[in-house]
Amino acid sequence: MHFMTAEPFRIKMVERVKKTTKEERQIWLQEAGYNAFKIRAENVYIDCLTDSGTSAMSSEQWSALMLGDESYAGSKSFFKLEESVQDVFGMPYFQPTHQGRAADYIMAKLYAEKGKYAIGNMHFDTFRGNAEVLGALAVDYVIDDGKDTASPSHPFKGNIDLHKMQELIDGKGSDQISVVIITVTCNNNGGQPVSMKNIREVSELAKKHSIPVVIDSARMAENAYFIQQREEGYLNKPIKEITREMFSYCETATMSSKKDGMVNIGGLFVTRNAEIIEKAQQLAIIHEGFITYGGLAGRDLEALAVGLQEGCDEHYLEYRINQAKYLGDRLLEKGIPIIEPTGGHGVYVDGRRFFPEIPQHQFPSQRLVVALYEVAGVRAVEIGACAFGSKDPVTGDEILPEIETMRIALSRRVYTNSHMDVIANALGEIYKNREQYKGMKLVHEGSVTSLRHFTAGFELL
Ligand code: F0G
Repeated sequence: MHFMTAEPFRIKMVERVKKTTKEERQIWLQEAGYNAFKIRAENVYIDCLTDSGTSAMSSEQWSALMLGDESYAGSKSFFKLEESVQDVFGMPYFQPTHQGRAADYIMAKLYAEKGKYAIGNMHFDTFRGNAEVLGALAVDYVIDDGKDTASPSHPFKGNIDLHKMQELIDGKGSDQISVVIITVTCNNNGGQPVSMKNIREVSELAKKHSIPVVIDSARMAENAYFIQQREEGYLNKPIKEITREMFSYCETATMSSKKDGMVNIGGLFVTRNAEIIEKAQQLAIIHEGFITYGGLAGRDLEALAVGLQEGCDEHYLEYRINQAKYLGDRLLEKGIPIIEPTGGHGVYVDGRRFFPEIPQHQFPSQRLVVALYEVAGVRAVEIGACAFGSKDPVTGDEILPEIETMRIALSRRVYTNSHMDVIANALGEIYKNREQYKGMKLVHEGSVTSLRHFTAGFELL
């Protein structure tokens, strides 16, 4: 950020957070089975578990809430949201849902087929869970640079590898691929952006083979900002012009509005296909609610209508992306290995390079999550061997993921850079003492492997 700019907002209301002692935190960790999802939020000082649903709403959003029209059908709030969605997505039809995964579910029902491939850069875990349940084969074709946490050179590490996609089409036949899903930004490898060129080329290749393209657009505004800053020809384009171009290359988009929608709850299913929206509406009526509210209150629709516009505000995005970079830079100064360049919604610490003595099957990144909470009351989340480990369907052997990280997710408009300093200093302390730490053992997991991190239990070795 330029030295004359700071947060483009004033803080009007605050929420007190509790400071706790290390001894208390050790007890809570033990009670939680060393799983960050099971720690009570009130016992967390700085909560970086997720950037989802944790945004601070603006005064404009809070006033819009009062205008919420709670009619079951055809509410005024729905039409306000419709206008905002069409403006940002440039597509005609949409269905609100109660959150992103409900839109994912509808999308999976309409686009994923049993025994067929669903290509993605890196599928988010809720789609992967849906695919697993439906029997679809979800494959991750992010470029190799996207899996190399140490190479800072590539500006768009979320890109899909077109060669891998072509190989699958050639090898299996295009009729064996039911959908391509581009997740912007790519959450699983560091909130890394996807370039416009890549979105366009993936779309052209898919079109040639009649494969529909879907964009998972939870962080579409952050992606658009990276395109504006990093891709040739976009520096002077307004963010919404960029988002509309991104979506011009897909048939359908899903969105967890809890991210760039700047709201605490909500999701969207957006499409240009009139037949698809009809089917989506049928599924929505069964699972979500009538088509003009989709499981949300009128006030939620109002807040989202405003939030989508604020999420695309350039000054906001400049602050947002630079806060993540600020934290990333503080960690790099301390020699802490992170995914570079820093992505959109947080900083991802490389667990294997941080704790080289802890083998991946002993969950180095999860160990770091536990250490960070113990030392400073900061809650982050593992994106590594537990969250993305899988099992060989035949032998049951554990398959370890290529990415092994701890994600420090940053809530929107919530924490200051002083909080970032606390996180960096705490990690600096742990890094200095890194030889003292040993690995962990998984002692409990649920039945859907791709979702086990939510309920897993661990022991310290
Ligand atoms: N797609 C992506 C890329 C996501 O990151 C998420 C949620 C979803 C879909 C599902 O949306 O939570 O509204 O149902 N990600 C959160 C996270 C949970 O912490 O990254 P949801």
